[in-house]
Amino acid sequence: MAAKVGIFAAILLVCAILSPLLASSFPNHRPEFLEHDSGKTDVTIHGDNNNVVHANVNDIAIPCSNYETRNERSLKEKKKKKNKNKKNKKEMNHHEHDFEAFNFEHPQIEGVRHGYPQVFPEHNVDPITKEHEEPEILEGLREGFYQNTCPQAEEIIRNGLIRAFQNDSTIAAAIPRLFLHDCFVKGCDGSILLDTTPTGGKIEKLSPSNGITVKGFELIDEIKAELEENCPGIVSCSDVLAYLSRDAFVASGLPHYEVSGGRRDGMESRVENVVGNLPLPDDTVDQMIQLFNRKGLNAEDLVVLIGAHSIGVAHCFNFLYRMDTPEKAQMVDPRLGNVMKFTCTGQMSTIAFDATTQYKMDSVFYKQLLMKKGLLESDQALTQDIRTRGLVQRFSNDEVGWFNKFGVAMNKLGAVEVLTGNQGQIRKQCRAVNL
Ligand code: HEM
Repeated sequence: MAAKVGIFAAILLVCAILSPLLASSFPNHRPEFLEHDSGKTDVTIHGDNNNVVHANVNDIAIPCSNYETRNERSLKEKKKKKNKNKKNKKEMNHHEHDFEAFNFEHPQIEGVRHGYPQVFPEHNVDPITKEHEEPEILEGLREGFYQNTCPQAEEIIRNGLIRAFQNDSTIAAAIPRLFLHDCFVKGCDGSILLDTTPTGGKIEKLSPSNGITVKGFELIDEIKAELEENCPGIVSCSDVLAYLSRDAFVASGLPHYEVSGGRRDGMESRVENVVGNLPLPDDTVDQMIQLFNRKGLNAEDLVVLIGAHSIGVAHCFNFLYRMDTPEKAQMVDPRLGNVMKFTCTGQMSTIAFDATTQYKMDSVFYKQLLMKKGLLESDQALTQDIRTRGLVQRFSNDEVGWFNKFGVAMNKLGAVEVLTGNQGQIRKQCRAVNL
């Protein structure tokens, strides 16, 4: 008995010594841009107003699991899909984010015309992690697609975004808009990036829905050139846009989410394909839901993804008309109305969707919608329809819930009418098809 008590006491002593050591070896998760693993490179980022943050350019999340062959994978696919809903539900409950610790200013909308970045997202946000390490397969696309063929692909893309963001913080909003406009017009095939096509017709870029309101093409050229240098002919332009959109949101404060890859590039881009396939700022909720349904997305996806308007700007020609008629003007908060009149010295002026936190993905945008402070008529309409109002209210109070749904919805958007396998091609450069 005395011997047993002795052994027990010895075990307790060892545990007491080891537990602080072990605890210090496994610090809590921190946002991916803020991790400081040894051997990785920290960079300092200066925002427009010279706010300084530290980012880790080498910190890239590559799934650790090994990949099966295509056949093995397709056998597992059904099983995975079955478990997927269950898994997503669980994930939602798993992540706790603490924004209280960060002191973001929320100046009154009147005080901010063309807002400047506050502090680069330094929140204590855990990356959205998977319960298992197994990659998800999404309609022919899969996570970790380039793990064997170009393991540095996602890192090159992310570093490109960070570099660009240092010079111009508006780039983070520009990229996801490009992605939406690519995916909704004949699928996510990089067609919006084309300058010319073999048929020589007018390209998507020239549509009034695109035109001056889309940008970011030079960044994509740069990144694509670097990818071609490292892994020629491997990474598609459409995938670059998908990963880059994720990185843009993450740079703006969204927790990391995995993106499926495997898209191939299309070979045509026609201006006439744009009509009827992109949402318009005066769309009704019906029109938006119908459009999203046609693309395989539902009303909830619409409300989730509209949260992308938490960052970025709109030109006055997209909303100033609301002040011209009393019926429309009554849906605009009078103070926002004044800002519109004051700021829109011409139709080409711009105002931030969320002037209080223009460069930060957060639920402030939804809160403002509920106060009639939505710039776009279409955004504001979401607070008036029974199918969408409840979701706006919910996300305005549940930022974490919205975050968790956002990555899932982005992957749904990124799976719209994709070309995979042997379809399409891998363009050498994103502005022209390979001949
Ligand atoms: C569903 C209805 C939608 C409508 C009617 C709509 C319309 C617009 C309009 C009119 C602008 C302003 C363009 C300008 O004046 O320069 C804009 C900007 C933007 N949109 Fe949307 N959009 C919708 C959905 C989405 C979705 C689903 C996403 C992302 C997944 C998105 C991401 C963005 C971003 C990030 C900007 C800011 C771009 C920048 O600052 O460069 N939008 N959108």
